[in-house]
Amino acid sequence: SGKHKIAVIGSGSWGSALAKIAAENAVKRNDEFHSEVRMWVREKIVNGKPLTHVINRTHLNSRYLPDIKLPRNLVATPHLKDVVKDATLIVFVVPHQFLHTVLGELSRPGVLHPGARAISAIKGVEVNGTDIETFASLIEGRVGTPCSALSGANIALEVALGQFCETTIGCPTHEDSLLWSAVFNAPTFRVSAVEDVNGVSLGGALKNIVALAAGFVDGLGLGGNTKAAILRIGLGEMTEFCLEFFEGSQRETFSNESAGIADLITTCYGGRNRKCAEEFVKSGSTFDVIEKKLLNGQKLQGTATAEEVHNFLRARKRVHAYPLFEKVYQIAFEGLPPKSLVRGL
Ligand code: NAD
Ligand code: 13P
Repeated sequence: SGKHKIAVIGSGSWGSALAKIAAENAVKRNDEFHSEVRMWVREKIVNGKPLTHVINRTHLNSRYLPDIKLPRNLVATPHLKDVVKDATLIVFVVPHQFLHTVLGELSRPGVLHPGARAISAIKGVEVNGTDIETFASLIEGRVGTPCSALSGANIALEVALGQFCETTIGCPTHEDSLLWSAVFNAPTFRVSAVEDVNGVSLGGALKNIVALAAGFVDGLGLGGNTKAAILRIGLGEMTEFCLEFFEGSQRETFSNESAGIADLITTCYGGRNRKCAEEFVKSGSTFDVIEKKLLNGQKLQGTATAEEVHNFLRARKRVHAYPLFEKVYQIAFEGLPPKSLVRGL
């Protein structure tokens, strides 16, 4: 049939929440979509049972998004090639550290449906020396599917609980924006589509660096004024970085879209990067130890992004133009005392 088949690669907290929305829409819009939506679950034994079996029998992802009932047409699948078999719409939502392994498997001949299209909900960037790339572009280059980006003020649990929020999709063509809006738009998940794939991707990646700064502010016991200053300066660096290095990206994506200002706000108040950075200041432990202690298997994205962005800016000799990003890097990786965060900004 001419119906689209949706596959979701990733089943952490955000993967599960996005898969829930897509699977609900697949049933509602069954003239456009196959009702079965497959989700890749990296197999793990949880309380003596394989996680895929737990999800398919109880419709709960007890490991990464407990207490949220998942739709019955969402099928947890342990092998990537079975997840993407016949899929025409592929959602990438693994923590960014694991994307290369996934793309390695998907780029084997015959694994992907020839006409498939993709969207990335992953927050981070790909850096190689003086080159920087979004994950949408990396996916497109490695597996050949046109790739959009989805990002916004979307703390996974709040989305999964059905609390109203907005998100932004950046799409290469109008056709993509119609397709991906049909997959994700919902009464409590309002999709706004823009043509700026890079701006949407960079908003999601760079706000994680600023969120670490916000967590340092909280750990230092500083108040709302300081955090507001960090957000303002951070939004400025995010915007200028994207405009400097990604030709054709739009300032308005940062000032007007959920993927810009709104995601920055929610992450700097309620996100995991903020929480772990506060603990970094208070405990003096390393981020690796804190991630294990506080996140129960979920993955921090901001520290790796701070390091990657630092390496890129150093290679381009542009570190001095982004002082907040650089401060975050030095505090997280070079032992700079957190209280010097605001000095000289
Ligand atoms: P998560 O932090 O919950 O991480 C858990 C996931 O990582 C599980 O699916 C687990 O199977 C997988 N995993 C662990 N080790 C792995 C390995 N070695 N190889 C492959 N997979 C492995 O994941 P998440 O929150 O769904 O994040 C995915 C992406 O979505 C990130 O880039 C994140 O920034 C973004 N995002 C997250 C949220 C959120 O609130 N959680 C919101 C918006 C965007
Ligand atoms: P954290 O990874 O800091 O929790 O941010 C989640 C997010 O991206 C919200 O939009």
